Amino acid sequence: MKQISVVGVGYVGLVTAACFSDLGNRVIALDVDEQRVSNLRKGVMPIYEPGLEELVERNVAAGRLTFTTSYEEALKGSEFVFICVGTPSGVEGEADLKYVEAAARTIAKTMTAPLIVINKSTVPVGTGDWVAEIIHEARPKPMDFWVVSCPEFLREGAAISDFMNPHRTVLGSTSREAADKVAQLHLPLRSPIVITDLRTAEMIKYASNAFLATKISFINEIADVCESLGADVKEVAAGMGFDARIGKYFLDAGLGYGGSCFPKDVKALAYMAEDMGLEPQILNAVMRVNGVRRMMIVDKVRDLMGGISGKTVGILGLAFKPNTDDMRDAPSIDIAKALIEGGATVRAFDPVAMEVAKGEMPKVEMMPDAYAVAKDADALIIVTEWNEFKHLDLERIRDSMREAVLLDGRNIYQPEQIKDLGFRYRGVGRGYNGSADSHIKTEVKVQPNAV
Ligand code: NAD
Ligand code: UGA
Repeated sequence: MKQISVVGVGYVGLVTAACFSDLGNRVIALDVDEQRVSNLRKGVMPIYEPGLEELVERNVAAGRLTFTTSYEEALKGSEFVFICVGTPSGVEGEADLKYVEAAARTIAKTMTAPLIVINKSTVPVGTGDWVAEIIHEARPKPMDFWVVSCPEFLREGAAISDFMNPHRTVLGSTSREAADKVAQLHLPLRSPIVITDLRTAEMIKYASNAFLATKISFINEIADVCESLGADVKEVAAGMGFDARIGKYFLDAGLGYGGSCFPKDVKALAYMAEDMGLEPQILNAVMRVNGVRRMMIVDKVRDLMGGISGKTVGILGLAFKPNTDDMRDAPSIDIAKALIEGGATVRAFDPVAMEVAKGEMPKVEMMPDAYAVAKDADALIIVTEWNEFKHLDLERIRDSMREAVLLDGRNIYQPEQIKDLGFRYRGVGRGYNGSADSHIKTEVKVQPNAV
């Protein structure tokens, strides 16, 4: 059992704290947000993340996980401190490091024993060195410390399973001994551990996120070409994905990437490159392609209905992706805004994000379920692919709508089935300008082994 403190109990910090305590460590989780800490002490989660509440409850009950606002309390007796504070976009797209700086400074002023400071926040290359300088200067007296970069790769909505079953753990440091100690903490996860230098570890995180964002923009560009030429991007992606060099993941065409990570991280990486006098051509293209996805669906609504002014449009799904209530850079915000600016009345339903979404879109009427959204609506848009939208009673929906117009921003339905039900339907990249009527369902036949 090791004693670990975690600074910042947001998505990453709370999951990190809960998971390390579940692995048998003693974890003290700290935040400057008093309300957040007081709620956590009462068992109230600041975020919706499947399985998190139970995990926190179990480890609090076992005495392995506690919450505090006091750095003294958190650091006393801790051998490791994980920095998990936010690194939002600054004015020019750079990562704003004010929270990291504040955390590093306070850690330095508070530490009373040798400490391994682990940066889990996504930070620009060179930040580990800078954090080391801050701690070196702010320590009240000389005391050993080591900085390790340990970027986090979890996805919201699948955070616990991603943390517990990582594809890899990346550790960067100037001290091999410190990196080895952090590696020890991760051994129960049985994942490959990559030990490298600080800057390389920091870059692995940005390059990974940028690559995934590139796959998404790539397939969205292909979707537009499919749509014009009569091919079906969903089946194109499936056909591509069998090639292990390409892989089947992150090839879902739709409304583009949102959330608190890809948009800011691609921007920050492009900023870093430009700052060095380089031209990040691919990253710029990735952002340009992503930038028009949200308005593409609004244009389709306009096109299908012959204008949106005076119409009632329903939005199904508000969170930036399913299984979270995170509304940071959610496509639904821009889509609702454009519809309202175009003179439409907008109503919406999301299984968990409505409470958070209310603040972001005060003019949108929040409804109790998908059927209430559809009633007397002129069009319905699937914005977030929650599972519960995949098996709706579509006949009931059709009959209750004023106009049976369905826009499937995440391609969760089979176009032919929806058309057969009498909807005017548009997905994304599904060949509707082309050969839809002669559409043959793609089959995958597994060939018996040759003798
Ligand atoms: P978040 O905004 O959900 O949480 C950050 C927390 O840090 C907040 O609770 C805030 O009150 C607290 N905080 C700010 N300053 C503090 C300080 N000086 N001392 C103590 N607490 C402080 O952020 P997040 O989404 O968890 O992201 C954290 C970092 O992890 C970011 O760099 C992000 O890019 C990265 N990351 C996020 C995810 C994700 O899925 N959200 C995944 C991987 C990496
Ligand atoms: C992403 C990465 O997947 C994580 O590995 C990383 O740790 C995290 O960012 C981070 O650095 O913070 P997350 O943003 O939680 O995780 O969610 P994703 O599942 O990656 O989805 C991001 C966005 O891309 C969503 O808006 C989603 O709808 C969109 N997306 C994803 C697509 O449009 N198509 C896809 O095929 C996949």
